[in-house]
Amino acid sequence: MIRRTLIAEALQSEEQKDSIQVCGWVKTRRNAGEVVFLELNDGSCRSNLQCVVEAGTKAFDALAGVSTGAAVRISGRLEESPGKGQRWELHAEELEVYGFADSSAYPLQKKHHSDEFLRSIAHLRSRTNKYGAAFRIRSEAARAVHDYFAENGFHYVHTPILTGSDCEGAGEMFRVTVLPPDQPVKMSEGANPFSNDFFGRECSLTVSGQLEAEALAMGLGRVYTFGPTFRAENSNTPRHAAEFWMVEPEMAFADLFDAMKTAEDLVCRVISQVLERCGDDIELFDRYVEPGLIKRLENLWMRPFARCPYREAIKILNAGGKKFEYPVSFGSDLQTEHERFLAEEHFGRPVIVYDYPKNIKAFYMKQNDDGETVAAMDVLVPRIGELIGGSQREENADRLLRRMRELGQDPLKYDWYLDLRRFGTAPHAGFGMGFERMIMLLTGISNIRDVIPFPRTPGSLPF
Ligand code: 4AD
Ligand code: MG
Repeated sequence: MIRRTLIAEALQSEEQKDSIQVCGWVKTRRNAGEVVFLELNDGSCRSNLQCVVEAGTKAFDALAGVSTGAAVRISGRLEESPGKGQRWELHAEELEVYGFADSSAYPLQKKHHSDEFLRSIAHLRSRTNKYGAAFRIRSEAARAVHDYFAENGFHYVHTPILTGSDCEGAGEMFRVTVLPPDQPVKMSEGANPFSNDFFGRECSLTVSGQLEAEALAMGLGRVYTFGPTFRAENSNTPRHAAEFWMVEPEMAFADLFDAMKTAEDLVCRVISQVLERCGDDIELFDRYVEPGLIKRLENLWMRPFARCPYREAIKILNAGGKKFEYPVSFGSDLQTEHERFLAEEHFGRPVIVYDYPKNIKAFYMKQNDDGETVAAMDVLVPRIGELIGGSQREENADRLLRRMRELGQDPLKYDWYLDLRRFGTAPHAGFGMGFERMIMLLTGISNIRDVIPFPRTPGSLPF
């Protein structure tokens, strides 16, 4: 067992320590004659631990070849640092090298690297200050999601990734097959084309855990899923990934307005917890990525979100203040430019747009009495646009069946889903929050490829 102190703990020490042992990667090495300074980072926090290696120690004799990127173990005395910028430093006694990093080949030298370059070495970028911070924030944000739901009576459920149903009905699914590429499905008339495939029927990667979450909510009351989802939409934008993580609560005995409230509370909770616990990491983004970020996040979670019916939003967008690339009228899907205008310029804060036209929304949404709209809601936030999409669900079996038929869904495939309306149906509602978009909001990072460790986007699967 390697008994080690995390650098985060060492830096918060209240007193000097005669003997501690730390492990980490060398960020920089500076030679000053009889003394060598190593900046060591172990990923536990943004700050490095300065290690002072003096001539005459065993550690000094072990320094040959140690350069940026090397993995080492150092033991020594933690002492008050006379230098500026840090309270503690480690006076090395022993040093063991686990792995050298040849300086002529190691790509992360001490200089600025572009995000594009770092994406090409995604397997190493968690060692940089920026990506280390981003992934620690991602971790804390996930914890905040679980904390929020645990404290509010939700059960954490696990919905399948392999699925036979298309939740969004948008046909953007990745098909999963075990058939060899030269033996595709049999397309003979009338026969089941998937009969010789693994499941004997079509299988895809899920686009959303919602339908299964609904089933679980209709027994457990309040549930949420938090897992990977997949979309084969060919949109090469900074906000779309082919694989992303979604947080999906589903609540029995709840309506659209309950879903809105939960969405607002969840977003505010994640922001406040990350601000509280990741102050150092957030500060990096405030300083180098999006100046003013902390202030904006504080404003975001302290103010109530605006609420605005879709019809009203269309009026606002057409009020003439601004020219858009895509014009809008009742029935149009809102584009990012519209979403951002509403949140950034018109309301100046997150806004929940609701009661969308039924023709641009999925089959499962509760139909409103006007015959034209459904009880859907999207949470739009500055810089990102849509962060959350959700709705009250249609709980009436006949109306749901009619809508499925209108939209060309095969009701036989959804028989189990219709059962939920046949047996003990009840009003229920839920939503999905794109977790990567939440991390973009938290960090100011503008490309979704940089908030998930190994991004998957059209034409790109390098790892
Ligand atoms: O609005 P969406 O498509 O809603 C659903 O899938 C519902 N079934 C969720 C539910 O009610 N349980 O997706 C929800 C959120 C979006 O608001 C967006 O933040 C994110 O998921 N999202 C994506 N994030 C990254 N890349 C993509 N391709 C995304 N598509 C959706
Ligand atoms: Mg949506």
